[in-house]
Amino acid sequence: MEIGDLGELFGYLAVAMFGFAAFRYVLKWFFKTYGKWVKEHTKFHPLLLKVMDLNKKLHPWIGLAAAVFVVAHFTTQFIIQGYQSPSGLISASLMVIQVAGGFAGQYLMKKPRPKWWLWLHRGITVALITGLAIHILG
Ligand code: HEM
Ligand code: HEM
Repeated sequence: MEIGDLGELFGYLAVAMFGFAAFRYVLKWFFKTYGKWVKEHTKFHPLLLKVMDLNKKLHPWIGLAAAVFVVAHFTTQFIIQGYQSPSGLISASLMVIQVAGGFAGQYLMKKPRPKWWLWLHRGITVALITGLAIHILG
């Protein structure tokens, strides 16, 4: 495998981890909207609770994995091959802020976490979707 392919692979792995972390929003939305219905009409409620719980436990580590792959991607693309990418640098900075902010929210702040923290965490997710779309499709 050439170094360029490896760099691209790290990029796609970072995107995959990011997508999995952002999926938490969809999962929570589904649970809030249809959780009661699932409980009353199907036998899958315990499974749904398990999936929610597993996603919650893995969320920080999936986010951390995304950041690790971003660093690997940055190393292969910029440090080794010398490519420039403004959209990549902006996305990478946002990703580092997101993961650091996530850990601060999870482990340093008292519960209930302030509303502004959640909105910041959501807002950076949306900014990242935009930044990555420009970086990858642009
Ligand atoms: C959150 C951070 C980032 C993610 C998730 C990411 C992800 C990706 C992905 C999936 C690709 C493959 C898409 C394609 O080839 O068109 C790619 C390509 C690329 N990335 Fe990033 N990237 C990030 C940050 C960066 C940074 C900081 C740089 C700095 C130099 C960078 C430089 C590049 C370059 C030059 C390409 C094109 C490579 C080629 O076409 O062979 N990326 N990135
Ligand atoms: C790529 C990085 C990440 C993305 C895209 C991301 C995205 C999200 C999203 C979309 C939510 C749901 C927000 C809502 O309820 O509307 C969420 C919740 C949360 N995230 Fe992250 N996150 C990332 C990394 C992290 C990390 C590294 C941590 C902690 C170590 C973290 C901690 C939390 C906490 C504490 C919540 C709220 C609690 C909960 O939903 O149960 N996040 N995140």
